[in-house]
Amino acid sequence: MQNVDELKKLVGEEAANLVKDGMKVGLGSGSTVYWMVKRLGERVQDGLNITAIPTSNTTAKWAVEFGVPLTDFSKVQQLDIAIDGADEVDKNLQLIKGGGGALLREKVVAAAAKEFIVIVDESKLVSHLGAFPLAVEVTPFGWEITSVSIADLGGTPTLRHKDGEVFVTDNGNYILDCSFNQILDPEALQKDLKMLVGVVETGLFVGMADKVIVGKADGVSSITK
Ligand code: A5P
Repeated sequence: MQNVDELKKLVGEEAANLVKDGMKVGLGSGSTVYWMVKRLGERVQDGLNITAIPTSNTTAKWAVEFGVPLTDFSKVQQLDIAIDGADEVDKNLQLIKGGGGALLREKVVAAAAKEFIVIVDESKLVSHLGAFPLAVEVTPFGWEITSVSIADLGGTPTLRHKDGEVFVTDNGNYILDCSFNQILDPEALQKDLKMLVGVVETGLFVGMADKVIVGKADGVSSITK
């Protein structure tokens, strides 16, 4: 029986092995992605020729540490593959992301990729999204009234804090962690939230994932569209 960290390592390394020579790669964020970036770094040391765009300052630091060459969207318009973790995955490959607060760049990178691969341990699989609070990135100015508008949609928002301070994203915004209990129509909720002034992006990833690689106690399996 493997613990969750071992399963994250397993799927992270498995996904890194999908990357082919010459690819432009989107690097997600989070503890599962850490293992993917580490393994990619080993492959680069062995001669793999890639360039990558990170979705957070933390991932960028790991890439530099492990020797994965970085680029940015001023030089690259499309990525061949993006690989990222998730907080929840349902049977239709709809996701909640943003537990680490990197959801905006994660979504920009996933949208720019021809193929978006998600890597999770089996604890992330759910029948319905929503037990994990949905991260919504909002502008600091007026976050209080944006919060009221989200409550009008049925959510219970809480301003995210870290180490006793208000959490600020890599983009200089705030995160409202919103409990919706069960999200029965993720696509409709995504649209409604995006219509609110002050909402920059949400952690709902609908219709984006092409494949989910799941680490289970008895091995690795994949779910595809
Ligand atoms: C970061 O903002 C998130 O979307 C992560 O991808 C997600 O929280 C999964 O993180 P772990 O791999 O650390 O569980």
